[in-house]
Amino acid sequence: MKWTAAKLRSQKGTRKISMVTAYDALSASLVDQAGIPVVLVGDSLGNTVLGYGNTLPVTMEEMLHHTAAVARGTTDALIIADMPFMSYQASVESGVINAGRFLKESGADAVKIEGGMMRAGLIETLTQNGIPVLGHIGLTPQSVKEMGYRVQGKTSEQARQLMDDAMAVEQAGAFAVVLECVPPELGEAISRSLSIPTIGIGAGAGCDGQVLVFTDLLGLSDRPVAKFVKKFANLHPLMIEALTAYKTEVEAGSYPSEEHQY
Ligand code: KIV
Repeated sequence: MKWTAAKLRSQKGTRKISMVTAYDALSASLVDQAGIPVVLVGDSLGNTVLGYGNTLPVTMEEMLHHTAAVARGTTDALIIADMPFMSYQASVESGVINAGRFLKESGADAVKIEGGMMRAGLIETLTQNGIPVLGHIGLTPQSVKEMGYRVQGKTSEQARQLMDDAMAVEQAGAFAVVLECVPPELGEAISRSLSIPTIGIGAGAGCDGQVLVFTDLLGLSDRPVAKFVKKFANLHPLMIEALTAYKTEVEAGSYPSEEHQY
């Protein structure tokens, strides 16, 4: 059965939520077939698939194109599209227009927006206009030039600010919030204080759910991964091995053999 934002929200306190990123129909169908209830078309598309150094260059057109592919590969999972850098920062109006495009043009069910209190106005306008929003606070990769890729909320002042951000996102109407790279105690405290689910990434086991990047979780790349990543498979060497075996057989003339010919 198709997941909705409301159904996901109602899982709080009932069961832990798993979420994975996907960027095309194939990866999305694998996530969907595994019974994972949420596919996030993350703007990590930029650094995992498109070869950019970070998420900043990712455009609306790229996100729409990949979200539509994910929608074609999914039947049950809730599809959340990440609003890319500069698609909502300039004004609430630009955010509403671009968020609307994800629902109208790409088949997304909801959008994700980085930022706490400062985005409350936008989140409120979107949710009041029927666009479900997943918030995202803590380490927000679109602010990498300003905050770097550092654990957030380590001082009591920062922790208080993040708690206020989480409350503001909830009050503005978000159905859940991603907490990225915060100490586990803070992840747990925010999760206990909110009535919407928290989805952690590097935020400890006290969150209501977890999200990981598809390529990290499956070990598809040989690039170093963050401390919070667990590789549930290490497919990169297997893929290199298969490709090398193919090359060797083609060069030796042993592929295609009789069984692979008409
Ligand atoms: O872009 C992304 O993949 C994200 C995460 C929360 C995993 O924002």
